[in-house]
Amino acid sequence: MVDLLVRNASRILTCAVDGVSPPLGGRHQAGIGAVTGGVAIEGGRIVEVGPEALEADAKEVVDAQGGIVMPGFVDCHTHTVFVGSRADEFEQRAKGLSYTEIALRGGGIRRSMEMLREASDDELAAAVRRHLDGFLALGTTTIEAKSGYGLSLEHELRSLRALGVEHPVEVVRTCLAAHAIPPEFSTDRKGYIDLVRREILPAVRKEGLAQYCDVFHEKGAFNFAEAERILLTGKKLGLRARVHADQLSRSGGTRLACRVGAITADHLEFCTRDDAVAMRRAGVMAVLLPAANHFLNQEERPPARAMITVSCPIAVATDFNPGSAPTQSMPLVLNMAVVRFGLSVAEAIVGATINAACAAGVGKTVGSLEIGKQADLIICDVADYRDLAYRAGGNPVRTVIKKGEVVVGGAR
Ligand code: NIG
Ligand code: FE
Repeated sequence: MVDLLVRNASRILTCAVDGVSPPLGGRHQAGIGAVTGGVAIEGGRIVEVGPEALEADAKEVVDAQGGIVMPGFVDCHTHTVFVGSRADEFEQRAKGLSYTEIALRGGGIRRSMEMLREASDDELAAAVRRHLDGFLALGTTTIEAKSGYGLSLEHELRSLRALGVEHPVEVVRTCLAAHAIPPEFSTDRKGYIDLVRREILPAVRKEGLAQYCDVFHEKGAFNFAEAERILLTGKKLGLRARVHADQLSRSGGTRLACRVGAITADHLEFCTRDDAVAMRRAGVMAVLLPAANHFLNQEERPPARAMITVSCPIAVATDFNPGSAPTQSMPLVLNMAVVRFGLSVAEAIVGATINAACAAGVGKTVGSLEIGKQADLIICDVADYRDLAYRAGGNPVRTVIKKGEVVVGGAR
């Protein structure tokens, strides 16, 4: 007798390829592993997938009503801890101002920093909870989330603590103290970098507040040498690197990610085929963020097809943040990954599930529907998996199951 059986799916996307260990690169990037049958769950884990699962007696049955059953989305790049809105900047950009120009005028990350510093701990926790509710409703069951709007010892720690709230959405935390130089250090860059390396990262480590250390490597943010110093300090402390790389200019962030053994390099609009080869060799995954590319109306696109040709595995994510990507929707990201970056729907789905789980460092427990894995799955109101990316703008997710519990929907 199993605890829960999901049946009557048009297809189950396992997002696993027999005999291939993830992340899935090259031709396996499209490995959605569509099967028929059911998913049987016991003790919060998957105990059977496919036609055999239907033979199990179950305490509870969830009828997928001919929809698509697949792993919960993993959003492997988000800036979830912020308060307030920057809708005015969105409008200014639509009138022709650039992201960089707005930042130079005191907008951008710095404005979110001011709002965050003014918010109480309770307000921060409430904002995070609201955001996590938003993710869950859209079928995202695990996220990676960065700090980066605190930019001081006190406020970076407060941000990371706020991400520790109890919620069905699991959160993998990253310290992005190196997101921007805060105003109190505007004439002393080195002073801020020293603070990050000598105080913020060690304190984060000591309190066990993050697993990763990220840097915004970009003109106007942190240069190669600065970013490298910060990432190597993080690495020594046991915080593996992630890099905001080659987004707005060709600044070499991808190579930096390879050099420091980062788990991912993210954005990558200015990355080349050679960079993709270097990433594959160094085992650095590519995280593409099509919603940021869309919101900034950027003409440059990452070389996604070349990445697939050279077998560099791709993950896709929202980049959820108040400036360049105010969306939490992975279904929308699937659409944009197809339209803007030229992925097939299947490649995008793998990028949003198993590859994203690997990019967040949780590929062994979530991201695919396989025996022994955590039972994180969603039922979508579409009969054809391609509809997930094709019918953009709505929410196709009807039911969300997290660790074997129905947490959204629950039509039986
Ligand atoms: O990933 N690139 C830097 N950070 C964010 C944007 C942050 C913001 O504008 O608030 C990003 O796009
Ligand atoms: Fe980002």
